[in-house]
Amino acid sequence: MAPPPDTSKTTKLERYNSYIRRVNSTKLLAASTNLLFRATLLTAVVLILLFTLHYPPLLAGHHPSAASAHSHRSLLSSYSSYGGATWEREVRRSATPRRRGGLSVLVTGAAGFVGTHCSLALKKRGDGVLGLDNFNSYYDPSLKRSRQKLLSHHGILVIDADINDSKLLIKLFDVVPFSHVLHLAAQAGVRYAMRNPQSYVASNVAGLVSLFEVAAKHADPQPAIVWASSSSVYGLNTAVPFSELHRTDRPASLYAATKKAGEAIAHTYNHIYGLSITGLRFFTVYGPWGRPDMAYFFFTKAILSGNAITLFKTRDGVDVQRDFTYIDDVVQGCLGALDTAGKSTGTGGKKRGPAQLRVYNLGNTSPVPVGKMVAILEELLAKKAKKNVVTMPRNGDVPYTHANVTLAQKDFKYRPTTDLATGLRRFVKWYVEYYGVAAPHAQGKGKRGKGSVGEKGKDANTGRVASA
Ligand SMILES: *[C@@H]1O[C@H](CO)[C@@H](O)[C@H](O)[C@H]1NC(C)=O
Ligand SMILES: *[C@@H]1O[C@H](CO)[C@@H](O)[C@H](O)[C@H]1NC(C)=O
Repeated sequence: MAPPPDTSKTTKLERYNSYIRRVNSTKLLAASTNLLFRATLLTAVVLILLFTLHYPPLLAGHHPSAASAHSHRSLLSSYSSYGGATWEREVRRSATPRRRGGLSVLVTGAAGFVGTHCSLALKKRGDGVLGLDNFNSYYDPSLKRSRQKLLSHHGILVIDADINDSKLLIKLFDVVPFSHVLHLAAQAGVRYAMRNPQSYVASNVAGLVSLFEVAAKHADPQPAIVWASSSSVYGLNTAVPFSELHRTDRPASLYAATKKAGEAIAHTYNHIYGLSITGLRFFTVYGPWGRPDMAYFFFTKAILSGNAITLFKTRDGVDVQRDFTYIDDVVQGCLGALDTAGKSTGTGGKKRGPAQLRVYNLGNTSPVPVGKMVAILEELLAKKAKKNVVTMPRNGDVPYTHANVTLAQKDFKYRPTTDLATGLRRFVKWYVEYYGVAAPHAQGKGKRGKGSVGEKGKDANTGRVASA
């Protein structure tokens, strides 16, 4: 009898093969699990990296260099293209009030001078604040980054974006039901308007419309809006002190014209959509963390470095005068306007009833000749200015400003209390600390042996407002 064919070999082989297949599929499974693990790890690392870059204050204690500010911006903007759960959580955290009945305020131009101070003051009393700023280079962006750092230190997120970005604005209002908008983003400066007119139209007209559009048609509820107009709308008005009832139809600069246009546009959005809108006409605001394009600021720099400054006389040979208004007083005015703002009345682009429309002067009610301002600086800096006095060119500056603030006083108890000498002393104190310049005599008294001012400059940078 022939032995049965030995199948054991084939069965063995088959068993071996199936074993190999099993092993392979297990390996495959293990390999894919490994791959998944690695991908997850990589994603986590990328997320952590983005998160960390989003918060430079945790990393850097120095002035951001132009380069780092730039890379920061490009990363941030890719991240802020409405980036997911983490982003929304951070936005909500910043914007949520911590006191009962607190406001939730979107502050545009939050890394600007007035924006920074108002954001801090709101946060301090328990309101929620979310900042927006495009960090443009009209003046030194590193100063804006330092202000952003200061705000971040106080738990305020400032998103790096432009107010012309309607998609972002819509997203923000979807994520947070802001009760108020404090709209301070703008192209400032009277003389720069002759060099770059389009930037005024883009910011002060198109940007304003972009914000009003979203607030009127998408925000639910519609927020109440308080925004920065300007004392420059009084233009060639000669009746003093300037009252809200005076003519504002003769602007002397394109800057003033775009702010005046803004007041007209505000009327339209109030009329058609029921937005509650308050315009604030600021009078030469100054103080710590101020704007380097303003005279008191660049005069300080020039006096300290021994460069000449140019002072203007009017065509009648009189000193130019300004109603210099200290930042803390202006902040009180802004908060007063927010607190007394009525609710908007529309929804989804439909007006449901009449809404509040207001305009107020926020000045100091006490004009000072610019020459006197320079004398105060000379004393504080213990150094004489080299002065060029010339007749004022026809570039949009007006010879004299003086605010009548009766209306703001009546409606929200606005009462400026800081005179120019006091305010400039606080400014100079901040300036020497921030820029780390040698302490001038008048400031140095009683501070000897406490190390260089430069060291204290770091403090100012990591988070204290010199004046607050
Ligand atoms: C919006 O502003 C940015 C600058 O922040 C500019 O680059 C961009 O062109 C502007 N877009 C529009 C539509 O004006
Ligand atoms: C200030 O303005 C109010 C109206 O808001 C007016 O009644 C008052 O007379 C003005 N004061 C001066 C000094 O012009």
